[in-house]
Amino acid sequence: MIFSATLMMALATGLTTQAEQAKKHPYQDVKRPVEERVADLVARMTLEEKLGQLTQLTLGQNTNHNNIADPVGDVAGETGSVIYFGEDPEIHNLMQEKALKTRLGIPVLFGYDVIHGFRTIYPISLAQAASWDPELVELACAVAAREARASGVAWTFSPMIDVARDPRWGRIAEGYGEDAYTNGVFAAASVRGYQGSDMSAADRVAACLKHYVGYGASEAGKDYVYTEISRQTLWDTYLPPYQAGIEAGAATVMSSFNDISGVPGSANPYLLTEVLKNRWGHKGFVVSDWGSIQQLVNQGVAADNKEAALKAFTAGVEMDMMNGAYAPHMAALIDEGKVTMAQVDDAVSRILTLKFQLGLFDKPFVKVVPESERYLQPASLAVAEKLAEESIVLLKNKDGLLPLSADVKRIALIGPMVEGDTHLLGSWSFHGREEDVFGILEGMKGEFGGKAELLIARGSDFDGEDRSGFEEAVRAASAADVVVLCLGEKKQWSGENASRSTIALPEIQQALAEEIARVGKPVVLVLSNGRPLELRGLEPIAESIVELWQPGVAGGRPLAGVLSGRVNPSGKLAVTFPYSTGQIPIYYNHRQSARPWGGQGLYQDIPSTPLYDFGHGLSYTTFQYGDVVLPKTEFTVGEKFTVRISVRNSGDRSGIETVHWFINDPVCSISRPVKELKHFERQEIPAGESREFVFDIDPLRDLGYVDADGRHFVEPGDYFIIVGEARVRIVLK
Ligand code: GLC
Repeated sequence: MIFSATLMMALATGLTTQAEQAKKHPYQDVKRPVEERVADLVARMTLEEKLGQLTQLTLGQNTNHNNIADPVGDVAGETGSVIYFGEDPEIHNLMQEKALKTRLGIPVLFGYDVIHGFRTIYPISLAQAASWDPELVELACAVAAREARASGVAWTFSPMIDVARDPRWGRIAEGYGEDAYTNGVFAAASVRGYQGSDMSAADRVAACLKHYVGYGASEAGKDYVYTEISRQTLWDTYLPPYQAGIEAGAATVMSSFNDISGVPGSANPYLLTEVLKNRWGHKGFVVSDWGSIQQLVNQGVAADNKEAALKAFTAGVEMDMMNGAYAPHMAALIDEGKVTMAQVDDAVSRILTLKFQLGLFDKPFVKVVPESERYLQPASLAVAEKLAEESIVLLKNKDGLLPLSADVKRIALIGPMVEGDTHLLGSWSFHGREEDVFGILEGMKGEFGGKAELLIARGSDFDGEDRSGFEEAVRAASAADVVVLCLGEKKQWSGENASRSTIALPEIQQALAEEIARVGKPVVLVLSNGRPLELRGLEPIAESIVELWQPGVAGGRPLAGVLSGRVNPSGKLAVTFPYSTGQIPIYYNHRQSARPWGGQGLYQDIPSTPLYDFGHGLSYTTFQYGDVVLPKTEFTVGEKFTVRISVRNSGDRSGIETVHWFINDPVCSISRPVKELKHFERQEIPAGESREFVFDIDPLRDLGYVDADGRHFVEPGDYFIIVGEARVRIVLK
């Protein structure tokens, strides 16, 4: 659809003049407070117009393979919101022009899944968490916001902050790992990055915390299924990231698909109203997930879509995403006295409030700039590359094989990921393009060109049975000094509707690795994947293992930099890597066994410890932790205090160290995990120097716990502060 810039400018100018002339109602007066404008507008609306605002449809070519909606119909101007699959601001402007021509001229709210970048795709969230750099993640979200808003998208369905402990579940890729505190820190950073201090700015968007709540507990790692979550676990594991996001000012929340112990997330009054609105005071609105209202029928809590609409709306879901539930049934529900107009007005008011806060009424059109100015700006690419670099985790480095010695003159670059550029984008990267990716091969050529010869052989596909490429790969390995073996997952293997029964890589990749191992050259295993992998078959084969994750458009250069030593890896896992799929769920903050001795109750056939722990990550330098420094060891329950530790870089090169501060409460009225992350700090430490790391402890926040009613408490008694190898006892009186 080609529109001349002149025509669009004329339309925009013309409409502005028309809108200026039409400014005769208070809701159109930009000088009035938002509350007044909303109240005036709602008072003027018919029921049909109100129901239009509670409805979200789609606009643009639907490219999300998990949600096959109808080809886009003719979206009515009275529609409250659309999921915009396009990226053309001119289509956005035409839709807004249509909306402004309706009786009340309410602009449409354009939403989209901007999960880890819009066009400048940066690492998946599970990788971002391994950077332990919330400031950089905030910057990355600001880049995404700028690109999204330039296309007309003013609302992102992000951040996804579902604590996940089962890597068979494909959506573990989308969140910040297995720990509630970590997800909360990155939730707040994302909200700040997306929303900034003024959402009406041309480079900011509204955030949406999802999927509220407990979706990560999906039974057996499948998707859309039941989740058994006690009230206690809701409060101590799944709700905290959402509370952090709400406290950071998140504009919206998305209700989840999953059945939460008999009450689905999209029809759960306790969570959607009692907790979110009454206790946390959330003034924004809740949008359902795609179809999650009509799916209440499948889940057996509603007889039909009308009853589903009633259950979801009265539970506290304000906007209907692609269910066709509210618009057709709400009038009857009101006539039957099951829904009140006051409830409808509250929902509409929440949605209109966000539209005013986003500036959609006063600046409904997007300035159309050329695509080259909208996306992939050098500063944006630099943020993506830096985040990819900081997300890389060095899992293993036997005999210091890495960084590669200058004596290495021939590198065999083998595996399906060597040129699997599109898969480096990861899930939820629909506006990302393969041609945007600076891939592994490019990175290696750039880094090692003129220093080492690259012998390239794909060896095999990601899956399947075809071993015909093995011979060429063996020849390359035989002729090389070192093998860099690049394996991993296709981007479709994680994300939504991407559950896998095993987290081991397909047999063909394992067979290729074993064939290469038989050549006898040192092997660096590079992994690009969207979930923790079972590596027990690969770990013995590789001297070094580098977790690249799915780094987005700028992965090749950081990876090559790590292999050459230009980059000192600093990433640490925010999710446990099980030794075997059979160990799942396995996570660091587990409760203590009743018999934690002598292997009681553990597996008879495999180890019961993970291959790589939460927080694991190696560096090219070494860090020595000093003693924990406390002002004293006894405190009153309400007394805040500071704990310190000095860390020294005892190696010969600068490095970045993230210090994780854990606590343990060995005796509590509710059993508690063996350790709980409560703070982390990341600093660069030059070789030979030391830096002090500090944890300001507030006993209620950091030593206390929460009960099944969401009550936070702290009890007198012994506590342990765990940092590095240290475990220091303190007493609360
Ligand atoms: C999907 C996902 C959700 C996404 C929404 C819109 O089904 O569950 O994360 O935001 O639909 O695409």
